[in-house]
Amino acid sequence: MTHIATRLSVVKPSASMAVSQAAKELAATGVDVIDLGLGEPDFAAPAHVTEIAFAEARANRMLYTASLGTPDLRRAVCEKFRRENGLEYSGDEIAVANGAKQIIFNALMATVDEGDELILPAPYFVSYPEMAKLFGGVPVTPACPAESGFRLTPEVLEAAITPRTRWLFLHMPGNPSGAVYSRAQLEALGAVLDRHPQVMILSDEIYEHITFDGRDFVSFGAACPQLRDRTLIVNGVSKAYAMTGWRVGYAAGPRDLIKAMATVQSQSCTSVSAPAQRAAQAALEGPQDEVQSFREAFERRRDLVVEGIRQINTLTLDPPEGAFYAYIGCAALIGAHTPSGTVLEDDVAVAKYLLDVAQVAAVPGTAYGLSPYFRISTATSEAQLSEAVSRIARAVAQLDR
Ligand SMILES: Cc1ncc(COP(=O)(O)O)c(C=O)c1O
Repeated sequence: MTHIATRLSVVKPSASMAVSQAAKELAATGVDVIDLGLGEPDFAAPAHVTEIAFAEARANRMLYTASLGTPDLRRAVCEKFRRENGLEYSGDEIAVANGAKQIIFNALMATVDEGDELILPAPYFVSYPEMAKLFGGVPVTPACPAESGFRLTPEVLEAAITPRTRWLFLHMPGNPSGAVYSRAQLEALGAVLDRHPQVMILSDEIYEHITFDGRDFVSFGAACPQLRDRTLIVNGVSKAYAMTGWRVGYAAGPRDLIKAMATVQSQSCTSVSAPAQRAAQAALEGPQDEVQSFREAFERRRDLVVEGIRQINTLTLDPPEGAFYAYIGCAALIGAHTPSGTVLEDDVAVAKYLLDVAQVAAVPGTAYGLSPYFRISTATSEAQLSEAVSRIARAVAQLDR
């Protein structure tokens, strides 16, 4: 039997990918499953982006690049931060990796020692605690309930910080909650962080462009400039430009951290593939009108789902402020009996019931550290979403409470 390293024994595979896999397996047996497990825009990437990658490949510009990314892409990233966030960075303060996920992975590998604590406000993105544990870090996951808009408050942050705290992670708009922080809310968190110089801040802003109801997006870096030398701003092209499979993420942060991340990258994947970097550069530098039309489509879908779920009086959902998920409260279903006589003990059982009976794949809240909820992705057509909501309503109506 293969020896698997001990460090992996504490790490779980991605829950959303597992749900999606289960949905695919069911679909392969002929079942009509609606897979709302994974968060992937269903739009095509802008045409000019794909074209330029082809042209790059045909011109045989397919060599290794600098580990931190091509100088052109890093320039485009600097320009993006200047234009959209009012932040000034130079090329050596920028890292490019295979998706925001690899940026985070590199940053943690470069900084986390055994026993270091990472504050991951719950609900959190599924990969954060697992990556933290992979490097011997200890996830600290204060609950940020619906009553506080799923946002971390200064009081909860202060209580979570210890001398061992290495990182605070923020993600905005949040996955799964959609929560967006205002400038004032970020400043209030910044005031707490001012008192704790050992804490670095990772602000995951990958859903930056997907905010609703005319809400402004404020980068953590813009709200708390005094924390610049311990803030890593993470972003990428996956969500804004419907480019998940291109695998390009980027970050801006202090030079010493970026340099350490470059060392990790140069000894692992070397660099992101050259045509993908060229495509990401084109996405950042080109026309931004598709970003806007994607955003509008996500807002219509959000409205449709909120409207539909609100008709189901045993489920709760406040309108998400951004991103493309609905984090649906299902406390009233816990303890209910299914038609086949089993009891829904927790949100894992609720998600399983929805897959079995409604044939809708959703991810249980347990995966995000705040229960009882389930998450559906709204990154699919309005027709599919309407059908999914109707199926959920019918399945829930069959429960005996
Ligand atoms: C909060 C958050 N960060 C990062 C990622 C991953 O982004 P990328 O595709 O750039 O690796 C996701 C994807 O679901 C996400 O929800």
